[in-house]
Amino acid sequence: AYYSEPYRPQFHFSPEANWMNDPNGLVYQDGVYHLFYQYYPDDTVWGPMHWGHAVSKDLVRWEHKPIALYPDEHGLIFSGSAVVDSQNTSGFAKNGETPLVAIFTYHDMDGEKAGRTDFQTQGIAYTLDNGDTWTKFKGNPVIGNEGIKDFRDPKVTWHEASKRWILTLVAGDHAQFYTSPNLKDWTLTGEFGKDYGAHGGVWECPDLFPLQVDGENESKWVLIISINPGAPNGGSGTQYFIGDFDGKTFTTDQKEPKWIDYGTDNYAGVTYNNEPNGDRIFIGWMSNWQYARDTPTKKWRSSMTVPRKLTLQKIGMDYYLTNFPISGIDGLASSELTKSWEVGSSETATQTINGLDQSSIQLKTASKDFSIVYGNSLGEKVVLTLNAGRNQFLVDRSASGKIDFQEDFGNKTHVAPLQLLNGDPVEMEILLDKSSMEVFINGGLLVMTEQVFPNEPYNSITVENNDPEANVIVESIKKMESIW
Ligand code: FRU
Repeated sequence: AYYSEPYRPQFHFSPEANWMNDPNGLVYQDGVYHLFYQYYPDDTVWGPMHWGHAVSKDLVRWEHKPIALYPDEHGLIFSGSAVVDSQNTSGFAKNGETPLVAIFTYHDMDGEKAGRTDFQTQGIAYTLDNGDTWTKFKGNPVIGNEGIKDFRDPKVTWHEASKRWILTLVAGDHAQFYTSPNLKDWTLTGEFGKDYGAHGGVWECPDLFPLQVDGENESKWVLIISINPGAPNGGSGTQYFIGDFDGKTFTTDQKEPKWIDYGTDNYAGVTYNNEPNGDRIFIGWMSNWQYARDTPTKKWRSSMTVPRKLTLQKIGMDYYLTNFPISGIDGLASSELTKSWEVGSSETATQTINGLDQSSIQLKTASKDFSIVYGNSLGEKVVLTLNAGRNQFLVDRSASGKIDFQEDFGNKTHVAPLQLLNGDPVEMEILLDKSSMEVFINGGLLVMTEQVFPNEPYNSITVENNDPEANVIVESIKKMESIW
């Protein structure tokens, strides 16, 4: 295999070496899906940020590219987005090319050290050869800072109704909206968030887009906001709001946050611009600032979630965003590692399954009380429990293997509310890729993404069914092919 280090994901994106955090500049152009990312090329911990770069034809298999953006006299290159400027509104193309323009945050470390509050500004850069060579705009920064300490992570998209670019960024405890005709001159048009959602930490990495409501002739705007700390199970997490956008500002009557993922390891996720099939596709960073610097990998640090398709569901009078692996990921599921099996009411059964550490499991049940346990011969285990009586889905990784690299990693059971499911039977898909587990319930209505570091690969599954009436059906356990 191309990668063989312990814990190295085989069907998730990870950098060949060194530190990675947020996905940046997710955009499609001319047959190529770009994935840029926060990258420090000189160490396996966070340091002066660059934009690393990878490309894919199908969002499944990736090719590593040279670093796209380096720090310059304005600062480090923090998170941001990228757009295809097909009408050349920026004027960057001189010979009929189509500019790809990146919009990012400059972080001036000297300014920060000197105690200033205006050290984050927004800059732009462009490429005329679909991402291979980059030029920074001479007029940077394009949005200056009037003294807001946390002022970053611009997400830009084209707003067809007003024929303008719109930019969403975060300013501490709220989001700001700007518009521009040319990606260079920006006007502040609105703000959102002070009295809405979770505020346990600063807001980061916004995203704003319209989405059709599944099965309805209606479309709503979705505002995604990452927050660190303040997530439901500690540290970093990603909330969202459903509402409206009038070209200037976002409004909603939703005061309480909704969460993309109740696991602890899906952060700073954003979606693709210019996706050719009209899908809304999300990638998150599969870690948490609580312990991201401490996880027990050696050559590189952290990976991305699988790309997930977002759908908007109307349930009763309310709207929810689901996220579920794109179909290309299913395409990696190959040989069956075991036959389908059924665990009867009030029964417990275990199977030993070689190859489980790189697998996809599908199960179906009306059981209202059961656990799925991934284990190994050292007695290490991850326990997933559905308990309808308590209205909870739980992930316990306290005995999952290496946990003591940081105190918050294994010290409590992670809990998600089951209310959304309305007592429906459950369909579950679980992707395990060496050191990450992604659990999708009912098409991604409830999702938990978790890192795990067993000292030996997990090679057994136990189904403990405590429901006196319903069976648990494990429909398939398939090996996932490596993408590398
Ligand atoms: C989110 C974040 C962003 C920032 C980047 C710096 O994880 O803190 O707000 O732009 O990481 O690497």
